[in-house]
Amino acid sequence: MFLHVDPYPGDPILTLNEDFQKDPRTDKINLSIGIYFDEQGRLPVMDAVRQAESAMLSQIGPKPYLPMTGNPAYREAVQHLLFGADHEAVRSGRIATIQTLGGSGGLKVGGDFLKRYFPNSQVWVSDPTWDNHRAMFEGAGFQVNTYPYYDPETKGLKFDAMLSAIDALPAQSIVLLHACCHNPTGVDLNQAQWRQLIEVIQRRRLLPYLDIAYQGFGDGIEEDAFALRALADAGVSFFVANSFSKSFSLYGERVGGLSVVCPDKAQAQLVLGQLMSAVRRNYSSPPTHGSQIVARVLQTPDLRQMWESELTQMRDRIKVMRQRLYDGVVARLPGRDVRYFIDQRGMFSYTGVSPQQADALREQHGVYVLRSGRMCAAGLNANNVDRVAEAFAAVLRAG
Ligand code: LMR
Repeated sequence: MFLHVDPYPGDPILTLNEDFQKDPRTDKINLSIGIYFDEQGRLPVMDAVRQAESAMLSQIGPKPYLPMTGNPAYREAVQHLLFGADHEAVRSGRIATIQTLGGSGGLKVGGDFLKRYFPNSQVWVSDPTWDNHRAMFEGAGFQVNTYPYYDPETKGLKFDAMLSAIDALPAQSIVLLHACCHNPTGVDLNQAQWRQLIEVIQRRRLLPYLDIAYQGFGDGIEEDAFALRALADAGVSFFVANSFSKSFSLYGERVGGLSVVCPDKAQAQLVLGQLMSAVRRNYSSPPTHGSQIVARVLQTPDLRQMWESELTQMRDRIKVMRQRLYDGVVARLPGRDVRYFIDQRGMFSYTGVSPQQADALREQHGVYVLRSGRMCAAGLNANNVDRVAEAFAAVLRAG
């Protein structure tokens, strides 16, 4: 019956993370998957989350299905966090927001909606992008193309090439953009570049789809939402999938959202209805627990403050580790330009190591990075950073 089923080659991120778990070496270091580990190398339980969950435990009640759109308090909290509570688009009701199964669930539901209502559009993703973007949109039935983004020479952004490629797209092309902390490169647009890009998007009547999975890991919660707010200010209609996996350390709870910023409230109602239909066709309705935690933290002033300061500590710790890695590699390879370790932002750094060098890091040094060369800097800590610097220096020296 199933002999024609193709063997699954595995996922470049999730399968490598599983390989890491199976590796018997006790000194192995996981810089593969985009997960924040604390200074002790543990997956943190944030204090704000712990307190919210404790309060929830004392109020255990029935667990009915949530609406197809999800938890109303959570949906409101998502809008306020992404756009600001006082943003005109929020106040006028022209954003359709649903709770989804992580950011991936948001991307998937939005992809299904788009295929139904923009069947002739094609999707354009950055070169490179998160491995799953292409698979998701191809899975929704789209042709997926790339626009220039990362420059391997400078390990920075090819902004002019990116802008002119996007400026040549047909109207209603779907342009996937990372709002901050680009995955996998850690290379972001600055605010002036966003403004230029938004002008092109508007003029060519493109349909941006933003992915924001790392809000708070770049420059700050508000700063990292710049692109979303600038697009909404400019009156552009767009999609945004968001995730709380990293910023609340709630990976397994699958807490995310999808928001569609529309021209007016009436259109937002139409879009919301068809998002509900897409949810029903996929999984009926989302789960309760994670959304209750996030809503409680974001809407309780002292918990919110606690969460913001914990997130700030996480962001700052990654920056310190980036600097220590940079110092460690430069000390071992004087004159080598590895400034990208500190210039790239968020959890990820695109290190420029080849697939063979990534294999050498893993096999010879027990240091796991993706074969694309992506390293998760949030897996570095004071105990492992020198060993990682030593390992990088060794494979870079060997060429
Ligand atoms: C990553 O990019 O490593 C994370 O977003 C986890 C995932 O699902 O790929």
